[in-house]
Amino acid sequence: MSKGELGKTAQALVAGDKGLLAMDESTPTCNKRFAAAGIPQTLEMRRAYRDMIVTAPGLGDCINGAILVDETIRQQTKAGMPFARALQDAGILAGIKVDAGAKEMAGHPGEKITEGLDDLRDRLSEYAKMGARFAKWRAVIAINDGIPSEGCIDANALQLALYAALCQEAGLVPIVEPEVLMDGDHSMARCAEVTERVQRAVFHHLYLQRVSLEEMILKPNMVLPGLECPQQESAEETADATIQCLLRAVPAAVPGIAFLSGGQSGELASARLNAMNVRFRSRLPWAVAFSYARAIQEPALEIWNGKDENVPAAQKALVHRARCNKAARRGEYSSAMEKEMA
Ligand code: 13P
Repeated sequence: MSKGELGKTAQALVAGDKGLLAMDESTPTCNKRFAAAGIPQTLEMRRAYRDMIVTAPGLGDCINGAILVDETIRQQTKAGMPFARALQDAGILAGIKVDAGAKEMAGHPGEKITEGLDDLRDRLSEYAKMGARFAKWRAVIAINDGIPSEGCIDANALQLALYAALCQEAGLVPIVEPEVLMDGDHSMARCAEVTERVQRAVFHHLYLQRVSLEEMILKPNMVLPGLECPQQESAEETADATIQCLLRAVPAAVPGIAFLSGGQSGELASARLNAMNVRFRSRLPWAVAFSYARAIQEPALEIWNGKDENVPAAQKALVHRARCNKAARRGEYSSAMEKEMA
């Protein structure tokens, strides 16, 4: 694929005030969420759940790209359509999660390193043939006493860069996801310091590995206080801290930033994204978008509950959250939108 096309795909992923939908939970994670909701943890139930998502009427009005997992890209919708084709028909680009998960890092207690580079070149070429246009790799950085270490940050940043270079070689846009976790009682200032360090390391390695910044999307965490921190800043304060960090660390050549939700509620994830766009949108070099999993899916999963008869109501809840985030990209989200749904 020519460089021009890859850059156009990257721009298309954040175009029109829409965003991305992550529906790439690993089988253990998906099963855990099903178990919590009392849904049977079977291959067919996971297929049916993802079928409900990709066939939701109106999803393509708010979502440019959906990230699938290996199991799903090999499955078909109830109508007998491969998932990547069904997305394409809905006007949504198909993406694929290609990392093999974050594992305990040797010599680094409490820290993780993401695996999956070994056969990546072959897998990327297969996914491209199956219709994927972009890929995702997630690195996980925890905050605690004495961590993250330089060794953990540097190793994860290098893996992200090697992955991104292979994606571009295969004609896929890399979504580069360094996630600083919200777990813990750390302050927002500590999250800001760690997030900036992580992003600087990521862009250092992307440069060394000759990754074209115009042909990628960054998927970072927002700068937020830890979930157990007694001081929880307002949406405006988190917006200021997040944008300050990104302006310092993310080159203007990157077309878009699409946040992960990381365990925030759907409403908070919309409100915080909205605050960033209200305060800064006209002054930023990159699009500030979303690539949420839980913050879009959670209400829909609860309503669906594994039952066919609940599909229309679940789809409505799903598209509602996607619509709220589209409004947040324009800085037009408000709690009144939630009342309309209720
Ligand atoms: P959450 O939005 O649930 O954090 O998931 C985003 C994601 O893709 C994690 O890799």
